Amino acid sequence: MNGRIIRASAPGKLIVLGEHSVVFGKPALALAIDRRFRCDICPGSGILLNGAGISPRLHPHIDTILRRRNISDLRIETESRIPSGSGLGSSAALSAALIGAVRLMRGEACGEEALALEAFETEYEVQGRASPIDTSTSVHGGGVAVNCPEGLGTPIWHISKGGNSWTVSDIPVPEMTFVVGYTGIKAATGPLVQKVRKYKESNRFASDIIDEIGEVTRDGMRAVSNDDKDLLGELMTRDHKLLSILGVSCRELNKLVDASLEYSYGAKLTGSGGGGSMIASLTSRRRSAKP
Ligand code: MEV
Repeated sequence: MNGRIIRASAPGKLIVLGEHSVVFGKPALALAIDRRFRCDICPGSGILLNGAGISPRLHPHIDTILRRRNISDLRIETESRIPSGSGLGSSAALSAALIGAVRLMRGEACGEEALALEAFETEYEVQGRASPIDTSTSVHGGGVAVNCPEGLGTPIWHISKGGNSWTVSDIPVPEMTFVVGYTGIKAATGPLVQKVRKYKESNRFASDIIDEIGEVTRDGMRAVSNDDKDLLGELMTRDHKLLSILGVSCRELNKLVDASLEYSYGAKLTGSGGGGSMIASLTSRRRSAKP
């Protein structure tokens, strides 16, 4: 790359509770992870990503960010330690990093709230609907809760769109160990979000499940704040069952969750599902055998 290079990076995330229902304004809890997406940018002629052109189909987030800003000349080089389509927030991290770099290059405001809002708008456009949980976690880091019970977190910004609104808070989290199991199956978030939307619109039962995930997530946030790992684990496993009923789990995810229950407080898919990853909250000893 010639010219002044601007570098920005952002972390991936794992969702502890509340994916999918958060799209409809329910609560969710996520943690940033120590795997990051990094991008270097500098002015160029035309758009070049790692030395090649981009396509809206293969690079929807980059295409959307550049199109929304009328950018047609830019060289971008990327490096990621977050597998794409793994449920670990690779698109949110990409969006946060690229938007951060572009804002720096143009001398625009680079505060967390402005970045989080633009990254959210990008995901919303690409997925056809979205919540701010992934993008806000990538931008802010640490523990992030959306629509948490009062007093559990410190509100950092508020986002509304499409009839839903989300108060995003920084939430303290006790020391916990999560193991991530990756199915090896890449799953795009957009189609899964649309599948849940259609199910909810056509079926009262789906709305009840979404409400129940909201309740489980609120209880889970209280468990986190009381450092009650047993209860949190139980709620994670319950959440996985509810997400399975919504149709976003798969055989491979269920197998990984079942296999980990003996060694964990609880386990569930994380992210949009359909493949991707699951998480298990680890105990230091083996739990009693299943009946
Ligand atoms: C994906 O990581 C999380 C979903 O809830 C989608 C979203 O919140 O935008 C499935």
